[in-house]
Amino acid sequence: MSLSQSNADVAVVGLGRVGLPLALSFADRGLTVIGIDNDAARLGAVADGRMPFQETGGQELLERVVSGRAEPRLTLSERVADAARARHIVITLGTPSFSHIEIDMRDIRSALDDLLGVLAAGHSLTLRSTVAPGTTDFVAGYLTKHRGFEIGEEVFVAHAPERIAAGRFLEEIDTLPCIIGGVGARSGEVVAELFGVFGAPVVQTTPVQAELAKIWTNILRYTHFALPNLLMMDCERYAANVFEVIDLINRDYPRGGIAQPGFTAGTCLRKDFAFSEERSAAPGMLLAVSRVNESVPLFLIEGAKRRLGSLANRKVAVLGLAFKADTDDERDSLAHKLIRLLERELADVVVHDPHVAGPTAPLEEALAGAELVVLATNHTEFRSPHVLAAIAERAAGDCLVVDPWNCWGGAQVFAYASELAALGAPG
Ligand SMILES: NC(=O)c1ccc[n+]([C@@H]2O[C@H](COP(=O)([O-])OP(=O)(O)OC[C@H]3O[C@@H](n4cnc5c(N)ncnc54)[C@H](O)[C@@H]3O)[C@@H](O)[C@H]2O)c1
Repeated sequence: MSLSQSNADVAVVGLGRVGLPLALSFADRGLTVIGIDNDAARLGAVADGRMPFQETGGQELLERVVSGRAEPRLTLSERVADAARARHIVITLGTPSFSHIEIDMRDIRSALDDLLGVLAAGHSLTLRSTVAPGTTDFVAGYLTKHRGFEIGEEVFVAHAPERIAAGRFLEEIDTLPCIIGGVGARSGEVVAELFGVFGAPVVQTTPVQAELAKIWTNILRYTHFALPNLLMMDCERYAANVFEVIDLINRDYPRGGIAQPGFTAGTCLRKDFAFSEERSAAPGMLLAVSRVNESVPLFLIEGAKRRLGSLANRKVAVLGLAFKADTDDERDSLAHKLIRLLERELADVVVHDPHVAGPTAPLEEALAGAELVVLATNHTEFRSPHVLAAIAERAAGDCLVVDPWNCWGGAQVFAYASELAALGAPG
């Protein structure tokens, strides 16, 4: 296909949690957009005007873009090759990591192979997915090797990483600096024309610097939360209170700033560190950070067993399945690991989460007769005094409550429900 036949401004390949809000936002800014995904159910939901996952403001945006227009600005396709009908192609496919500590590029490779035959001079190809350092240059090299394009002159390739947090897409797309690392002379400028529609500051850099900036944005957060998680484990060893130690570190100290403990995972943090670890100058350092965060569920279970004895045949209520507060995203959530480990203790686990798509037990049912309550996700709903009152009313008399988030203001990772009720001040 020649670019003169193009009938859209931009194609977004992969309508996931990054791609769909991006495609809708381009359309909302007046661009004609082709949204591509190989998941027919997902395309069906979008075509019917239903957001397939929670994103703040997403449903209204989808309705604005998809419904009530004579000329829809978003068309949908299952074929990656249809992306060539647009001048700009943005790839928002998943980039997991193999257990070998190596980026899994299979989806990106597959999309590239689908595009190879249909790319033409004038196309731009942007990697919006998070990728290992060197991937953007690899993509450019792949197009040159197989099609002979001069990248940066004929075809334009760049990395423009997504740094928006889930749930904040619409708030941040207009404001977060848009990093663009273009290959060759003009790729950065061409891709900046596309992302310029959002009006956020554009920061031009090299492809590898854009890749490193994105990965290290997430490594910084992953490490930032590993430190209080490790401190929480240290405090248990010394019979100290982690919340009091954190307060001692931070209070009126200009160089403080340690974060609070919690479940630190999710689809990005849990794997992006591996893209650096893959060829690290200090192999194992980030793996150790990951090990700390991944150990939190086991640490909490061991702490509960030290206080309650065996958990076999005892009812445990797990509050929260999502990987972070106020999202329905369960991918790579440590709550699932917690549940698996509890089941290996032969505990009777009942789960409640008000956000996730799958069915969970109602709160009252999950709490009824529970001897252990673990707050796995700090959803806003759980902060309500009503939840603490429901624990006091429904759970077993000597129920142990595990709240690594200090969501209920008890300032104890392990507390008995009676102690929390006496403290009485929800956080
Ligand atoms: N989720 C986030 O909050 C977030 C934030 C910043 C960056 N990222 C990065 O953005 C990228 C995408 O993440 P995501 O969470 O949107 O992933 P996702 O899994 O939600 O979306 C990927 C989409 O691509 C589709 N897909 C897979 N293979 C395909 C193929 N061959 N052809 C067409 N469609 C295909 C899937 O059906 C899915 O809808 C990843 O690199 C991720 O690390 C994610």
